[in-house]
Amino acid sequence: MAALMVNRVQENADIITLMTHADYRRKRLAYGLLETFLEGFFATKGESCFLEVSTNNKKAISLYKSLNFSKCGLRKEYYTKLGKNEDALVMRATSFQKKQKM
Ligand SMILES: CC(C)(COP(=O)(O)OP(=O)(O)OC[C@H]1O[C@@H](n2cnc3c(N)ncnc32)[C@H](O)[C@@H]1OP(=O)(O)O)[C@@H](O)C(=O)NCCC(=O)NCCS
Repeated sequence: MAALMVNRVQENADIITLMTHADYRRKRLAYGLLETFLEGFFATKGESCFLEVSTNNKKAISLYKSLNFSKCGLRKEYYTKLGKNEDALVMRATSFQKKQKM
């Protein structure tokens, strides 16, 4: 119902795809997948995890910020959607801390 595709080369990783089927959204599936990956990545000498996300994709940006990603660059007109160009935010995480359950 949700999928995460990552390319890891030694200490760096790139998030290629993260998606949740429309019928299963807002159930913390994407968060859980990414959290599990990041925990393993930083536990095995991972240093930087990168991704690109459309500047218009507010929900994905919110998800990434909640997992410690922050902006490290901007790719102008990186995507084309319905004939319109969209910029991509480049984000990077360099650490992971599991949130304490209340
Ligand atoms: C972005 C996407 C992967 C989120 O998947 P999801 O499984 O529904 O997300 P989660 O339930 O794990 O949400 C985790 C956090 O993301 C943010 N978020 C997710 N959906 C949101 C929405 N509709 N509105 C606002 N924030 C949202 C919230 O911060 C949320 O935390 P919260 O539930 O505590 O508020 C999903 O909407 C999707 O597949 N979108 C289309 C593909 C896409 O944009 N992928 C990212 C490309 S870079």
